[in-house]
Amino acid sequence: MSPTPCPARAPGETMPTGSVLRGDCVEVMATLPAGSVDFILTDPPYVVRYRSRDGARLLGDSTVDWLEPAYRAMHRVLRDDSLCLSFYGWHHLVEFALAWKRAGFQPVGHLVFPKRYASSRRYLQHSHEQAVLLAKGRPPLPRLPGSDVCPWAYTGNRRHPTEKAVTLLAAQIETFCPAGGLVLDPFCGSGSTLRAAQSVGRSYLGIELDPRHYETAMRRMLV
Ligand SMILES: C[S@@+](CC[C@H](N)C(=O)[O-])C[C@H]1O[C@@H](n2cnc3c(N)ncnc32)[C@H](O)[C@@H]1O
Repeated sequence: MSPTPCPARAPGETMPTGSVLRGDCVEVMATLPAGSVDFILTDPPYVVRYRSRDGARLLGDSTVDWLEPAYRAMHRVLRDDSLCLSFYGWHHLVEFALAWKRAGFQPVGHLVFPKRYASSRRYLQHSHEQAVLLAKGRPPLPRLPGSDVCPWAYTGNRRHPTEKAVTLLAAQIETFCPAGGLVLDPFCGSGSTLRAAQSVGRSYLGIELDPRHYETAMRRMLV
C-alpha cells in the first residue's frame, strides 16, 4: 500500500499496484505507463450536483469538464483489446457518450441495475443505476457472458455517500478481468472496486481526489 499522496513517477516505472493514490485522476494516470492496466471498473461523479441527506457533496459533480480528459487517460493506460466498465449519469448522456467516443472507446454493452427503491423522483421514479461496457480495440468475448440486467445491492452508504456493493462489482471483475490481472478505479471513493478486485484475486490500483474518501479507502484496504 502507498500511505502517501501520489508520488512523482516517470512513465515506464514500475506500476504502483496494490495502492490507493491521492490526487486528480487525470494527473495521476499521466504518470502511469500506457497499456499497463487489464481492466477498468469505475464509478465517476454523475454530474448531478448530488447532495446526501447529511449535506455532503461530491467533488467533480457539478461540471462535465473532466469527462473527456479522464476517459482519454483511461484509454491510454488500458491494455489493447481490453475493457472498461463505467457507471455514468444519464442526465449528461450526450457528454458522457461524446467523451467515450473521442477517447477512442467503443460501447459494447450496457448494464442496468434495477433497485427496489427510488433514489429520487422527478418525471419518473429513479429506480435503476446504469453502466456502459467500453472496448479498447477488440477484447476477446467472455466464455460465459453474464446478463446485462443485474441485481442491485444497497450498501447503506456508510463509508461513502454513493458507495457501491462489493459483491456486485466482484462479479463484473471476474467476468472481464483476466485472472491475476490489474484493475484500475480512477474514481475509487471508499475503495469498493479495490476490495472487490482483492476478493476475486486481482491486483488493484485506486485513485481518489477527496482526502476524506482517500483516507477511507486506504484504511479499508489495510484491514
Ligand atoms: C461516485 S463516487 C465513487 C464511489 C465508490 N464507487 C464507492 O463505492 O465508494 C466518485 C468519486 O470520485 C471522486 N473524484 C471526483 N473527481 C475526481 C478526480 N478528478 N480524480 C479522482 N477522484 C475524483 C469523488 O471524490 C468521489 O469520491
